[in-house]
Amino acid sequence: MIEFLGIQLKTPLVLASGILGNNADILSRVHGAGCGLVTMKSIGPAPRDGHNNPTVIDLGCGMINAVGLPTPGYDNMDAEWQALADRHFPLNASIYGGSTAEFAEVARFVSDQGPDCIEINISCPNSDLHGMLFGVDEKAAHAVTAAVKQVIDVPLIAKLTPAAPDIGRIAKACEDAGADAICAINTAGPGMVIDIETGRPVLAFQKGGLSGPMIKPIAIRCVYDIFKTVSIPIIGLGGITTGADAVEMFMAGASLVGMGSAVRYRGIQVFDMVHRELVDWLAAHNTTREAVMGAAHHPAGTPAGTITREPVSIEKDHTSQHRKNTP
Ligand SMILES: Cc1cc2nc3c(=O)[nH]c(=O)nc-3n(C[C@H](O)[C@H](O)[C@H](O)COP(=O)(O)O)c2cc1C
Repeated sequence: MIEFLGIQLKTPLVLASGILGNNADILSRVHGAGCGLVTMKSIGPAPRDGHNNPTVIDLGCGMINAVGLPTPGYDNMDAEWQALADRHFPLNASIYGGSTAEFAEVARFVSDQGPDCIEINISCPNSDLHGMLFGVDEKAAHAVTAAVKQVIDVPLIAKLTPAAPDIGRIAKACEDAGADAICAINTAGPGMVIDIETGRPVLAFQKGGLSGPMIKPIAIRCVYDIFKTVSIPIIGLGGITTGADAVEMFMAGASLVGMGSAVRYRGIQVFDMVHRELVDWLAAHNTTREAVMGAAHHPAGTPAGTITREPVSIEKDHTSQHRKNTP
């Protein structure tokens, strides 16, 4: 078992938000397939349809999507919350809002539904700042993190966007405002794909976020930068598909590794597969996950496995009466 913010996880692997929705049976199957922490699709303040189809295109080297954050709204999910109340797996509830006040409103309600932690998706437009992303502005990131922290009684994870000019500073602002962990990255871009026969953008929304293997170097760089600025744990995701990718992400500084697009490429069994590949790699190199965490930050010539800063605190105690998972 791995302890993360006081939550017991069976593997260091996390399901990324938005990949498999919010159905308790499906999320339970992902946990059964080797996922340690299961993240819900982002939940918003009011019903929202999302964008028209096509919304997701597989480009081979990754995916482009403009799903548009469809949500029934936090208070239209009675059946989902009821089914999730009886779960036997650690649940990370992802939320978003159009303003700091909306984030706090959603967070307060969701916290009462008993997730093990809450992730704020601060990669969406911020109406407080006239359409900017919360996640590219230090003050906005600090304000929304602080507002949510005040109204929840479970650990808080801030999910960041690679669109930030200096993602390390945004992460630090979130940590200063009370975030217990950072999750990076959300999709990169936006990008565009044009059908050369019609001459039109393929996505109905025209532009979309990039994910999968093509964004892995961006995600690795982001986690590397964040590790330098914060002492809270980092969930590293973006393009992770294999155990070797996971090792690279740990070396950048991640404590846990998330996967989204990989589920499309390798099925939900990807969690068991990547875990096995990770365990095999660590055994073949006679080392441990803890030892490789942050290894890329060692001075040149320092053998991997010798950590030069305090191990990332993944054992913070966040005892919560809401916690449903059994260790
Ligand atoms: C179809 C799709 C839907 C997504 N929906 C959400 C979402 O609702 N909330 C969120 O925070 N991230 C969302 N993401 C971003 C992923 O959680 C993840 O950060 C991103 O895809 C990078 O990881 P990956 O390369 O492993 O897919 C979505 C990604 C995809 C591909």
